[in-house]
Amino acid sequence: MPPLFRWIIALGLAGLATFWLLTRPDRLADDALAGLTGDAARGEQVFLAGGCASCHAAPDAKDEARLVLAGGQRFPSPFGTFLAPNISPDPTHGIGTWSAMDLANAMLRGVSPEGAHYYPAFPYTSYVHVTAQDVTDLHAYLATLPATDTPSLPHEISFPFTIRRGLGLWKHLYATEDWMLAGDLTPEQQRGRYLVEGPGHCGECHTPRDRFGGLQRDVWLTGAPTPDGKGKIPGISPSQLDWSESDIAYYLETGFTPDFDAAGGHMASVVINTGQLPASDRAAIAAYLKTLPAPEG
Ligand code: HEC
Ligand code: HEC
Repeated sequence: MPPLFRWIIALGLAGLATFWLLTRPDRLADDALAGLTGDAARGEQVFLAGGCASCHAAPDAKDEARLVLAGGQRFPSPFGTFLAPNISPDPTHGIGTWSAMDLANAMLRGVSPEGAHYYPAFPYTSYVHVTAQDVTDLHAYLATLPATDTPSLPHEISFPFTIRRGLGLWKHLYATEDWMLAGDLTPEQQRGRYLVEGPGHCGECHTPRDRFGGLQRDVWLTGAPTPDGKGKIPGISPSQLDWSESDIAYYLETGFTPDFDAAGGHMASVVINTGQLPASDRAAIAAYLKTLPAPEG
């Protein structure tokens, strides 16, 4: 073999090895949930704050049917259409056999029990902030929900996005545990930050994304086009939203704006959840939003 050819092969192999190393699934430490026991009642609050039913209930499910997490809702994006899977306790079609640790690796690391990366259409970039206790409680609560054997449907995406391994690179660029709002915060502002940046995943809709689908954290919560490109999601940082704290809390409870418009689109299903949280949590979210600095420029 001519030397140049050998070099090309060697470089190619080194490139593959680097890709392999950089895209390895990053699991939690084995003792991440050590000593914790799940409380289903507390887990229900995490479920509401996390909006799991908004994505995992069957399309158009209402009221009690929202607790049957059959999947099937479609999420169009510039990369193709993602379909939410069945996460009911069914052992075959859902996640009935999953341990709390499996759920924690999925939500906090975006990694499946088999070690595959999840697509960020599952908002683990926000759920990374969820506490180990909250995941354990949520795991206990999910087990109390009705099982359904509706099969999960495949995503409608094409090459190269079909290669999950590549998401390891994406995670290096965009998955971070850093908080957006730093500095001295009151306990209420900290609770609000936890709910907004963590389980509530408000930034996943209200923050614009770059061409690779990563959140543009320098323009946090300043509004974004809808992922299907057909509409616009309003900004909710203080420079766009001049509502008072009680206006915001009232909206999150009832869906009514100060002008008595009703929340529409995807926000309507967010409000179904936030409306069931304790009033102190809605007040904390409002306090957080009012504390955000106006983005530069
Ligand atoms: C914005 C929509 C959205 C929200 C909100 C959401 N998910 Fe998902 N979830 C998805 C999508 C899409 C996938 C598929 C990801 C993939 O295939 O890579 C998924 C995958 C999962 C999986 C993996 C299932 C499997 O079979 O491997 C679990 C577990 C899960 N979600 C749990 C939850 C929980 C718990 C919550 C609430 C805390 C939640 N999800 C909130 C969209 C969502
Ligand atoms: C799934 C996407 C999505 C998520 C998640 C989401 N929102 Fe929204 N939000 C919207 C959309 C869409 C609207 C516009 C609703 C309308 O047009 O009636 C909106 C509107 C709002 C408004 C009213 C703004 C205005 O000017 O009318 C507030 C306040 C708000 N959201 C706060 C939040 C908070 C706080 C969270 C997290 C707990 C959150 N949103 C999570 C999509 C989302």
